[in-house]
Amino acid sequence: MGILPIDSLPVLRQRRSAKWRTYPDDVLALTVAEMDVPLAEPVARVLHEAVGRSDTGYAAPTRDLAEAVSGYAWRSWGWRIDPDHVRTVADVGMGIVEVLRRVVGPGDRVVISPPVYEPFTWWTAEVGAQVVEAPLAEEPSGWRLDLDALERAFAAGASAYLLCNPHNPVGLVHPREDLVALAGLAGRYGVHVLADEIHAPLVLPGAEFVPFLSVSDEARRWGFSFHSASKGWNLAGLKAATVITADPGPKRYVDRLSPHSLYRTGHLGVLATVAAFNEGEPWLADTQKLLDHNRRLLGELLAELLPAARYRQPESSFLAWLDLRALGWGDDPTQRILDTARVALNAGLRYGASGSGHVRLNFGCSPATLTEAVTRVAEVDARFVDTVVPEGHAGGQAREP
Ligand SMILES: Cc1ncc(COP(=O)(O)O)c(C=O)c1O
Repeated sequence: MGILPIDSLPVLRQRRSAKWRTYPDDVLALTVAEMDVPLAEPVARVLHEAVGRSDTGYAAPTRDLAEAVSGYAWRSWGWRIDPDHVRTVADVGMGIVEVLRRVVGPGDRVVISPPVYEPFTWWTAEVGAQVVEAPLAEEPSGWRLDLDALERAFAAGASAYLLCNPHNPVGLVHPREDLVALAGLAGRYGVHVLADEIHAPLVLPGAEFVPFLSVSDEARRWGFSFHSASKGWNLAGLKAATVITADPGPKRYVDRLSPHSLYRTGHLGVLATVAAFNEGEPWLADTQKLLDHNRRLLGELLAELLPAARYRQPESSFLAWLDLRALGWGDDPTQRILDTARVALNAGLRYGASGSGHVRLNFGCSPATLTEAVTRVAEVDARFVDTVVPEGHAGGQAREP
């Protein structure tokens, strides 16, 4: 299957990143958005070479990253990016906050579509704006943007919309017609669209990623797109991302970002990201096979061991959105699952009120870990006998970066 050889748990536990330092060793952490995969060989090589040269200074002001993301976008999605319209930032969060600072004023409204990546609300608060919700619609065929709700929110006076495409945590890859309609609404009501496309390299077989800026002139006039190799190639700690525009209007805002944004970007992050976009496609294909396998395996395991859980196979990435309401484990089932099954998941409530009784599960791990985790969760009721959480125990939720 070309599946990646994932290290054993004792080896993975030697990692020092957030996923591996938050919980004790008996806990399987299927939380924060890191994968358990080995680094792509071209990425590992440039990092080893840089360390060998003691090459750990500032990122250089070159076009390498802009050209690499542009080449990757063209090969993957037929999307032409002008490298002169690519700005380097430390991460997608920083890029979105810095653009928001320029397109919204204090007290302005920023629209989001829950359930959605929790930091969208923090980033809005960070710039002194207020969040307005236009929740996703769940239809029999799957999740969709609720274009009527978006129109109502835009018409009531909004300055920006934070689009998540692919949409964390439900894995929705927005269809072209919805993006075209969204761009039309943005143009009609004068709303800036900040398209967080960080999970785009991990769109899985059966779905097609459509870059927001590729859909129409209105999308280009109102849109900003944010790309990074940090989810696709598991480089989140290295700190390099891009803000992309395709029209002089949005570009003018990006041109006003601090000239220091490059120096705040990780030099190793830039080197690794260039290697990932230029040479990392074979590795990415193997990773997609692993994730495709795991999303099906998760469905099979749930059907067999926890049939009351509702699960829709995501179209992208490594995050699954599980509806556990029928199990009667309360608004936030994660503490019970952690205490009894020793499996850490993210509480659905973090992604909006509609996440009550839901959890987010990261299946970017080995099939064996996924099987063990679901098996343990399925035993929660059997194991649950007034478990007492020891004092000082790392039982809380790791915050999403
Ligand atoms: C949708 C989305 N945007 C942004 C991020 C964070 O990206 P960065 O670390 O580049 O800020 C994540 C991380 O999981 C994410 O899922």
